Amino acid sequence: MPASTIQKSTEFTNTNLEVLLSEADIKRRVAELGKQIAADYADKDLVVVGVLKGSCVFLADLIRAIDLPLTIDFMAVSSYKDATKSSGDVEILKDVSQPLRGKDVIVVEDIVDTGLTLFRLLEILGSRGANSIKIASLLDKPEPRIKKELKIDYCGFQIPNKFVVGYGLDVAGRYRNLPFIGVVVNPDIA
Ligand code: IMP
Ligand code: MG
Repeated sequence: MPASTIQKSTEFTNTNLEVLLSEADIKRRVAELGKQIAADYADKDLVVVGVLKGSCVFLADLIRAIDLPLTIDFMAVSSYKDATKSSGDVEILKDVSQPLRGKDVIVVEDIVDTGLTLFRLLEILGSRGANSIKIASLLDKPEPRIKKELKIDYCGFQIPNKFVVGYGLDVAGRYRNLPFIGVVVNPDIA
């Protein structure tokens, strides 16, 4: 075979990634979630709050599937993955830039894993006088959940207890730009 016809793998066709949810799967589900939210939030004062950075791709697609007036805002938190630490170990690195009093808030996450980060975030947002606070998460990994009482109001997909990347999710900052959700086959080869 001439060298010019050999297909080189790229970031998106990386053989170390196994596709778990395709671009089409995600698109279909996000459209459904958007319709559901639009039906639930007609005549409400909706603020969609993304948790940086992981939720940015999902949020961008989700808001374009919600045919209602809305505003967006962002928070950034440092979460401590060490489950032996208390759930209070969540530091706000960036807060929303508007008062939430009287608003109907949907917090958008990429994935809920142990639930510790979101649980603490909801405690913090819960003191802001919002009319309602709900959760939208693209992915739900229920197996490692510590905060079992956490309710995901709008869930894209339940997934097995595997480390996933793409569509906003990263490993060491990489892979957020994949248009699909993949599993890293061998974490030792980056
Ligand atoms: P939790 O506090 O354990 O629920 O942590 C949730 C956060 O951990 C998510 O917002 C992600 O940033 C990160 N995370 C958890 N599981 C994964 C994964 O499989 N891939 C990438 N990031 C993950
Ligand atoms: Mg996150």
